[in-house]
Amino acid sequence: MTKDQYVLGIETSCDETAASVVKNGIEIVSNVVASQIQSQKRFGGVVPEIASRHHVEQITIVIDEALKKAGLAPKELDAVAVTEGPGLVGALLIGINAAKAFAFAHGLPLIGVHHIAGHIYANELMQRMKFPLLAIIVSGGHTELVIMKGHGSFEVIGETRDDAAGEAYDKVARVLGLPYPGGPEIDRLAGESDDVIEFPRAWLEPDSYDFSFSGLKSAVINYKHNLEQRGEKVNPAHVAAGFQASVVEVLTTKARRAAEEYQVKQVVAAGGVAANKQLRGSLENAFKEMNIPFYVPPISLCTDNAAMIAAAGSSMFTSGVRSTLSMNGRPGMELTSWHE
Ligand code: KG4
Ligand code: ZN
Repeated sequence: MTKDQYVLGIETSCDETAASVVKNGIEIVSNVVASQIQSQKRFGGVVPEIASRHHVEQITIVIDEALKKAGLAPKELDAVAVTEGPGLVGALLIGINAAKAFAFAHGLPLIGVHHIAGHIYANELMQRMKFPLLAIIVSGGHTELVIMKGHGSFEVIGETRDDAAGEAYDKVARVLGLPYPGGPEIDRLAGESDDVIEFPRAWLEPDSYDFSFSGLKSAVINYKHNLEQRGEKVNPAHVAAGFQASVVEVLTTKARRAAEEYQVKQVVAAGGVAANKQLRGSLENAFKEMNIPFYVPPISLCTDNAAMIAAAGSSMFTSGVRSTLSMNGRPGMELTSWHE
């Protein structure tokens, strides 16, 4: 019988301070997330300096709690995995320094994880990945279509050329006077709406898997200004429904085409925007029609968490990937394969 593998994951790339222990790369033993949303709400978004300060206050408490909930002593762990990038550099460094200190103090291997690899590996905590796989990553910082031919192999076939999907949600929500984060608010309003304003779809070149959401955001702003100039009132629900319809149609259409072209055996969604009800429904329908298994993790594993970082870190650990204590925060880190 082989020994069980326990990896401690740490995530501080944005506004969640999180630590988690994952067993054998697939089973959550503990998962602690300290969110700063209440604090960031006052500023209508994430203020990097404030995010870093929160991380400093929370990080040791969160790590201790993750170990306590797991009922494990540091020496029972096999490795420490931490988000190396991309993200806010000051925020990343808090997690990285905590991970380095922990790994050094307890003589454990250190593994730097790409945040998006983490979002994708959140799916391993639910069911086994089947390759080739299409991952649809839609978060506050990213909109990407990624093909995986095996564990740790990533080919980014499409990405956003301007705003990320979640960023567009948050900006449009702000225009509509909705609180931060705007995604869940727009999701809720759109679901209740009895009308849909027609906004453009940015398809880009016919064969492109890239995305662009800034034109859609401008269209929403122009629509609002035009109405206001005429002294008419904007119905936020109608705008939310129109904006969301455009985002969901473009994402679904491009994901479908990618799944077909790359003959994938499984499709997974990941990232905060994958929590969106209409997007989930639309992707579910599309892949059901195509007879391709489609999975989205539960909402708590879609938004930022450390279990996903531990899951990706476990797979890297098994593949022999190690980082050194000279690891630095990499705000613009590219998603590259750790395994061909
Ligand atoms: O993955 P995540 O927690 O953080 C990043 O790595 O960026 O994603 C956060 C983003 C925010 O932009 C938030 O508005 C969006 O996910 N979001 C949603 C929903 N829930 C969160 N967007 C649309 N519909 C939702 N239900
Ligand atoms: Zn994220």
